[in-house]
Amino acid sequence: MKILYVTSEAVPFCKTGGLADVAGSLPPALAEQGAEVAVVLPLYERIRDRYGSQLTFECYDYVDLAWRHSYCGLFSMEKDGVTWYFLDNEQYFNRGSLYGQADDGERFAFFSRAVVRMLDHFKFWPEVINCNDWQSALVPIYLKDDGVREERYRSIKTVVTIHNIEYQGRYNPYVLGELFGLDAGWVKDGTLLMDGDVNLLKGAILCADAVNAVSPTYANELKMPYFAHRMEGIMRQCSNKLSGVLNGIDMKLYDPRTDSRIVKNFSAEDMSGKDECKAELQRMVGLREEAHTPIVAMVSRLVSHKGLDLICEVLHDMMELPIQLVVLGTGDQRYEEFFHWAAQQYPGRMSVRMDYNEDLSMAIYAGADLFLMPSKSEPCGLSQMIAMRYGTVPIVRETGGLKDTVQPCESWRDAGNGFSFTNYSSGDMLHVIREAVYLYKDYPDVFGRLRQRAMSGDFSWARSAREYLRIYATITGQTWPIHSDTRRAAETGEPAEEAAPFEAAPEAAPVEEAAPVEEAVPAEEPAPAEEPAPAEEPAPAEEPAPVEEPAPVEEPAPAEEAAPVEEAAPAEEPAPVVEAAPVVEAAPAEEPAPVEEKPAKKTRKTTAKTAEKSEKAVKKTEKKAVKKTSTKKGTAGKKKSAE
Ligand code: GLC
Repeated sequence: MKILYVTSEAVPFCKTGGLADVAGSLPPALAEQGAEVAVVLPLYERIRDRYGSQLTFECYDYVDLAWRHSYCGLFSMEKDGVTWYFLDNEQYFNRGSLYGQADDGERFAFFSRAVVRMLDHFKFWPEVINCNDWQSALVPIYLKDDGVREERYRSIKTVVTIHNIEYQGRYNPYVLGELFGLDAGWVKDGTLLMDGDVNLLKGAILCADAVNAVSPTYANELKMPYFAHRMEGIMRQCSNKLSGVLNGIDMKLYDPRTDSRIVKNFSAEDMSGKDECKAELQRMVGLREEAHTPIVAMVSRLVSHKGLDLICEVLHDMMELPIQLVVLGTGDQRYEEFFHWAAQQYPGRMSVRMDYNEDLSMAIYAGADLFLMPSKSEPCGLSQMIAMRYGTVPIVRETGGLKDTVQPCESWRDAGNGFSFTNYSSGDMLHVIREAVYLYKDYPDVFGRLRQRAMSGDFSWARSAREYLRIYATITGQTWPIHSDTRRAAETGEPAEEAAPFEAAPEAAPVEEAAPVEEAVPAEEPAPAEEPAPAEEPAPAEEPAPVEEPAPVEEPAPAEEAAPVEEAAPAEEPAPVVEAAPVVEAAPAEEPAPVEEKPAKKTRKTTAKTAEKSEKAVKKTEKKAVKKTSTKKGTAGKKKSAE
């Protein structure tokens, strides 16, 4: 299978966020599974500076977009079984930063147009193009546009991956022709129109053959107003082609047994090195060197959706617990000021570094005991997986990928790999932190086993890559040896690879997690029939939108700045095939919510107290455990057969 992966950033070349980590790891993992893979990204200044000498110049061509006729150079590099292509245009990409420029719309329209223009020059004509977020959202749209005239563009199937739906690429409709080189019909039929704006991500979602979010829970959440940033209607409408594939992490790069960035290596079998890492962390950030005080850590952008308000609300209650707190990250001024002030109140017990510092972050992952991520929303989240790999037990709110990777600890039966709470409530968060701290302090053995379970999760990319390939196989109508490792196992007699992390401990998975998302996984649906030419394509479910007359604007002002227009919101319109009901029912706990703080309530976790009792009475409860486990297994069995 020939796959072209289009991204605006990728590790190690350039990075502003998690997208770069994914784009750096997934393509090699796909190649390892036997696919032919090329990645294409802009040749930014920083890539030219650092990697320029390693790049091969392939050719150049010209890209026509509206009235512009622009140079586009093509450079390449072979790495990890993948061809990495870089599109060169100094006017657009020879800049200090990747995004945040006034002409981002024009820059990424050029990039997307150039990807389609340069297809002839790549090493293969792709069967699938996987684009990511709004920056490459125009690719499936341009393919439809060109496909009207040329069959070969129609032969390419497209996938759009949503890493964060908050960023949609919204512009004033007046720029449609001028900036994006598209006909007014794209707005008139509603494909690109949303809330009065041209919305590139919406267009890509409608045009793509498959849409996937970066975790199963996030895929589900995207159908709810609380998470979808007004796209819930579109997501429901497209739920037949929507799936959620959990990201992985680079298990070799993040390996406490071999990592040279940490002061002492360790493993689940021999944790003594972690004690040294802890002492070193305490020295580095100015915390008291106390071996038995649990260090609670945060490595996070200091922005609202990371759940920082919860911490602001109960920080002093947290600090009454016998803990140390370390925070690393930069972000909004109000949070920076708060944490800076708070750290002064607890010298030796709380330390804050407003920084983006790779070395310190590794020291924290390796040296801390608990890792706090109380996010309001989290499409996937990578840091909780990295923390677990280094034996730092996560405390998370059950949202997005956090819910999919962390199963709450049930100490009475040694299950789970972290701690979690459901409602966005500081009281609930505090309750769970307390539970974690007392388990650490009073039951080191139980905590040690919890830590080992956290470290043993399979967060490898191989697992995710297989799921991506399943999507690609579905939309291209190909059969793909998805279980190549299973087949290899049959051939060699070696055991097949481990299951997905959220399947790894099925007994820990709550029954209510019977993810409705799985029902929507495209692989289950029959291969799409011959795609109709875009010209004949049924108009997207929106009403043939009356093109309202927006006030003329001189400049292509990014629509984010414009006041939201109250429009016959197409997103709200119930899609004909809405099968949303089960979704809403399935996850009531995640509905927006609890602004008021509720008294900490018992969720599905056992309390530290229960743990105390059960620890002593393990034998007594054994029978019970067997009973419960078999009940859950029974349910899981049912779930599987239902699928
Ligand atoms: C975005 C999301 C994050 C996710 C990453 C990679 O940055 O906010 O949760 O892990 O993309 O998909």
